[in-house]
Amino acid sequence: MRQAGRYLPAYRRVRERLSFLDLCRNSEAAAEVTVGTVRQLEVDAAIVFADILLPLIPMGLGLRFEKGDGPLIERPIRSVGDVDCLPAVDVGESLSFVAKTIALARTDLGEACPIVGFAGAPFTIAAYAIEGGTSRNFVLAKCMMYREPAAWHRLMTYVAKFTAEYLNMQIDAGAAAVQLFDSWVGCLSESDYRRFALPYVRQVVSAVRSGVPVIYFGTMTGGLLDAMRETGASVIGLDWRVDLGEAWERLGSGVAVQGNLDPVKLFADAADIRTAAREILDRAAARPGHIFNLGHGVLPGTPVDGVRTLIEAVREFG
Ligand code: CP3
Repeated sequence: MRQAGRYLPAYRRVRERLSFLDLCRNSEAAAEVTVGTVRQLEVDAAIVFADILLPLIPMGLGLRFEKGDGPLIERPIRSVGDVDCLPAVDVGESLSFVAKTIALARTDLGEACPIVGFAGAPFTIAAYAIEGGTSRNFVLAKCMMYREPAAWHRLMTYVAKFTAEYLNMQIDAGAAAVQLFDSWVGCLSESDYRRFALPYVRQVVSAVRSGVPVIYFGTMTGGLLDAMRETGASVIGLDWRVDLGEAWERLGSGVAVQGNLDPVKLFADAADIRTAAREILDRAAARPGHIFNLGHGVLPGTPVDGVRTLIEAVREFG
C-alpha cells in the first residue's frame, strides 16, 4: 500500500536523479528503494517497488507520468480493432526488470522479511487502458462493456492471461505473496462486477502458483464483498469505508482480511492515530488472519512520524 513514495525524503532524493519510470526500470535503484523503506519503517513485509501500469508499456499503449497529472496512456484502447491489435507479449522478457528487483531485494532482505509482488487486477488495468488515465465515471470503459461486450471480454481475457504470467514471474523471482489491486472496481454494480470483472479475477487467482497467498484489494467495495469472496483469493483487502468487523462477518471464516485505516488518519495527532489503530484491532478481535494495513496507499505529504506512530501502535496493541 505504497510503502515508498513521495512522503519519504529518501525517496524524493532518489527521484531527483531518476524519473519514476526510469526508477522502476532500474532494478538496482528500485531494490534499494524497496529495502531502504522497509528498514526505515520496520514493517513486517516489503512490497516491491514497481507500478500496476507497467504492463501497458509492453502492451504497446505508451505510458507517461506527468508531474501533477497522474498517469497518461498515450494510445488508449478505444475500439474492437484496438483490442485485436494487442501484441503477443513475452512477459518474462519485457518486464524482467521487476523480477530482477525482487531477486535483488530478496538477497538483501533475507528470509526474515517476505516480499509482496503485485499487479493491477484486470478490470482496473482495462479501465486505465481504455480511459487513457484516471477517470471519474469510467464512461469509456463502461461503454465498451455495455456496447461492445465481445471486445470487452477479449480485452479482459488478454489482460488476465498477462497478469497471471506477470505474477508467476514475480513469484519465481522470490515474491512470497502477491497482491492484486482492483483500485477502481468499486464503480461497478454487483451484477456488472459478476459479469464483467469477477470471472477474470478468478482466472488470475486460479493461475497463480499453488500455495502462494493472493491478496485481492479494491476500494469502495462495500457492495461487492460477497462477490469478491468468490474470486478464491486468500486475503481480501478492505478500504477504510467499511467496518472491518462487519466486513469480515460477511466474508465468513476461511478468508483473511487486510486493512483498513484511512490513510488520511496518518496526518492526525499521535494520540488519534493510536486510538484509530486500536479500534481496528478491536474490530479484528485477535481472529487469526488479520493483516494490519492502510485502507489505501500512503498519500504524498503524509508525515513520516505519523507512519511511525501507527507501526509502533500496531506492534504494541496487536
Ligand atoms: O513501494 C511501494 O509502495 C510499491 C509501489 C507501488 C507504486 N504504485 C509506486 C508508485 C504500488 C503498489 C503502486 C500501485 C498503484 N499504482 C496503484 C494501485 C493502488 C492505488 O493507488 O489504488 C495504482 C492505481 C497505480 C497507478 C499510479 N501510479 C498512480 C495513480 C500514480 C500517482 C500519479 C501521481 O502523479 O499522482 C502512480 C505513481 C506512483 N506509483 C508513485 C509511486 C511511488 C509516485 C510517483 C512519483 O514518484 O512521483
